[in-house]
Amino acid sequence: MSVAATLSSVPLFSHLREGDIEQLSRAAHERSYPKGSVILFENDPGDALYVVLSGQVKVVLIAEDGREVILSIRSEGDFFGEMSLIDDEPRSAHVIAMEDSKLLVLRREDFNRSLREMPQIAAGLLRSMCKRLRQADNKIGSLVLLDVPGRVARLLLEMADENDGECITQRLTHHMIAQMIGSSRETVSRTMRDLVAQEIIEVTRRTITIQNRRDPTPDAAKPGRNMIEVSRRVILIRNREALETSAGIG
Ligand code: CMP
Repeated sequence: MSVAATLSSVPLFSHLREGDIEQLSRAAHERSYPKGSVILFENDPGDALYVVLSGQVKVVLIAEDGREVILSIRSEGDFFGEMSLIDDEPRSAHVIAMEDSKLLVLRREDFNRSLREMPQIAAGLLRSMCKRLRQADNKIGSLVLLDVPGRVARLLLEMADENDGECITQRLTHHMIAQMIGSSRETVSRTMRDLVAQEIIEVTRRTITIQNRRDPTPDAAKPGRNMIEVSRRVILIRNREALETSAGIG
């Protein structure tokens, strides 16, 4: 698929006119990152914006003793790296590929020109940044006000709501949950076991439909095309009310 068609499937750019998309696509280029590679280093100067075409990346802070806090997980259609381009400060966090990932890279000059010439991009950026601030506010609230089971409950609800509200299909290990809510893997495992025992959640395998990332045809990046069925470990929300109570919602 052409870069232009890929770009028009990205929410940030989906409201642009065809001519604008064409202009952007001439400026952007695609780059692949193997699982585990560092895409951005915290404190480096920022020179580009990235859009996730396939795969998954994590935005992390890493302490001197090696402990990691996951601020966010970005997947297909999400973008990152805009902050340094907007405020000219160094990168605010590391971004690391959690899977083999394909990204679209837009250099600083081209990003700045697009912002000037296509105000819809600026509006989309503001909306995304408001959403992120709301998520960050929620996280601060959780860290201060909730115990670990409450934080786990809130995270599960948030992740389920990214799908249909009932099912978490994204890859999510206990270690990842711990790094997202500021707890230990052991405490998270205990909490998850309790939630399963109380039939609040169910961990099972399901066949789900995802994009075929190994498909070598250029159409592979287009949503709705080249979809395949895979069996994946998923978390089902069985008792939403109980999770909401634990998360201090409602
Ligand atoms: P930048 O600071 O240029 O480089 C790191 C990027 O990580 C940053 O831009 C954002 O795109 C992204 N980022 C930083 N903090 C968060 C957060 N709390 N949630 C989601 N993305 C973030």
